[in-house]
Amino acid sequence: MCGIVCYVGSREAKPILIDGLKQLEYRGYDSAGIAIQNQGQVQRFRAVGRIVELEKKINSIPLPGKVGMAHTRWATHGEPSELNAHPHADQEEKVFIVHNGIIENYHQIKKRLEKKGVEFSSETDTEVLAHLIALYFDGDLGEAVRRTMADVEGTFGIAVLHRDAPGQIVVARRGSPLVIGISNDGHFAASDVSAMVRHTSQVVHLQDNEMAVITRDDFSITTAQAKLIQRAVEEVEWKAEDAELNGFPHYMLKEIYEQPETIENAMRGRLEPGEGVPKLGGITPVWDRLKECRHLVMVACGTSYYAGCVGRYLFERLTEVDTEVELASEFRYRKLNFPPNTFILALSQSGETADTLAAIREARRKGAGLLGIVNVVGSSIARETDAGIYNHAGPEIGVASTKIFTSQLTILTLLALLIGRHQNLPLTEGITAIRALQALPHQVREILAQAHHIEAIAEKYHKCQNWLFLGRKYNYPIAMEGALKLKEISYIHAEGYAAGEMKHGPIALINPDMPTVAIAPMDEMYEKMLSNIQEIKSRKGPVIAIVTKGDEKVKELADEVIEVPTTVDYLYPILTVIPCQLLAYYCASLLGRDIDKPRNLAKSVTVE
Ligand code: M6R
Repeated sequence: MCGIVCYVGSREAKPILIDGLKQLEYRGYDSAGIAIQNQGQVQRFRAVGRIVELEKKINSIPLPGKVGMAHTRWATHGEPSELNAHPHADQEEKVFIVHNGIIENYHQIKKRLEKKGVEFSSETDTEVLAHLIALYFDGDLGEAVRRTMADVEGTFGIAVLHRDAPGQIVVARRGSPLVIGISNDGHFAASDVSAMVRHTSQVVHLQDNEMAVITRDDFSITTAQAKLIQRAVEEVEWKAEDAELNGFPHYMLKEIYEQPETIENAMRGRLEPGEGVPKLGGITPVWDRLKECRHLVMVACGTSYYAGCVGRYLFERLTEVDTEVELASEFRYRKLNFPPNTFILALSQSGETADTLAAIREARRKGAGLLGIVNVVGSSIARETDAGIYNHAGPEIGVASTKIFTSQLTILTLLALLIGRHQNLPLTEGITAIRALQALPHQVREILAQAHHIEAIAEKYHKCQNWLFLGRKYNYPIAMEGALKLKEISYIHAEGYAAGEMKHGPIALINPDMPTVAIAPMDEMYEKMLSNIQEIKSRKGPVIAIVTKGDEKVKELADEVIEVPTTVDYLYPILTVIPCQLLAYYCASLLGRDIDKPRNLAKSVTVE
């Protein structure tokens, strides 16, 4: 959730680190800090608030040095304050450390250290690491970090520098991502490649319980037991421009507009129209088992979970696989029986969501096969699953997930289609599905062309304090996703409901000040949605309806109508979610919200 960036090289570290932090700010943004080593000294600065506050503080201060680390924080232990911001240091200010994750046994360690006379200056769990490293340091920083790793429980991605170990940074990970970047003028380390993608596309991912000593000319990776590791260098497929706004006011809007392309990318090279069967190279290692699969459990959080909820209907429609979907955070509390040949499918943009990672580890212990649909190449979930499919959607930077949701739905359709065609799904159905998939990018463009119309609707309703989103079957998860989008970026209270549940409670809320977004395309649920709309209208509730182009019946009833093109019933969610994303965006924009960095949220939730 927090962000780390480090540099050891032949250039001034300060501008590189500040720029890297800005690329990471989406991961956490309640305070930030920097430490730079120069000629036997380390200078540290910290500030509460956004990176710009840190920048203001250090702008006029000369901060020379070619070795440094920086951090942007999302508070877990202790309020956002300068004292709680990273880097943290030991009492003598020799060790400096930045940390992502949570040290679970920090209370015990703190007590132990206090007995030795150590005084703590922050409320964070991280500070114990600085004191432990100082205690263990006898000239070899790598060794001091290794001994510290052995003492701590919990999750960490850390970077450490020491005043008496010039020219080096030691990084280590357990459960929190860290990537090393290799460039001609030095080495980088970061929690996320976006912090270094402007400088290098050559990276090496650190794995759990590994550490690395990084210098200007070299880096060496070892395990916690000091075994040397040789790891191949990987090429990052993102370009620096992918992480830029390109004229859009916000990443969220840019990412909404990227959807025709990201949906196309999710299908690129994967469609075989003649056979009505997709090709998914990433699942080849498990295909023999997967084609016989009769039980699939999807696990995910947030928007990825709602993609799984649509996925359940998709699998039920196209395959003979019994499909369930579980919130990853609840998965371990369930007593699920896994019949032979059960697969767990983890859905995650970041590939680092702690609950989703914990769920797949639990499933592994129970003997299930593990699949992933992941956007970030080389991420923990991508590595820990047996096989998987990448979204190839480029970096998603807006905290509100948009393009990954439609990409996940596209890939789930391909996977269901592939398994379905090997079971009993007829060729004609396969061909119809592929044609419908191929039409999606153009159809999404048609919806995006209505942005001004959707903005005008937002103009009318953005001051309403409570909203309801309703849908049925494939579009029930879209109601939940629409409500999540609105609440997370505009702070308007919104609920997503299965429309059939309206009469069991939420109807009591309907009044002229509470808009309902009714997702009512012309699918098998259409007539039932029509009745729901009538029920709302007879209680004077405003209705914003998302309908299939040409629908006349709903038009007569609803206050506002947003049209989507015709598609097959199970692909409507990919279209109907786009107006929901735009509505949320424009409401938040009219309310002056910080759209890409909504309060209290972070892009990647790496703590449970
Ligand atoms: O990276 P993941 O897809 O695993 O993230 C899951 C959720 O944290 C994420 O979808 C979150 O709900 C977004 N803020 C929703 O817009």
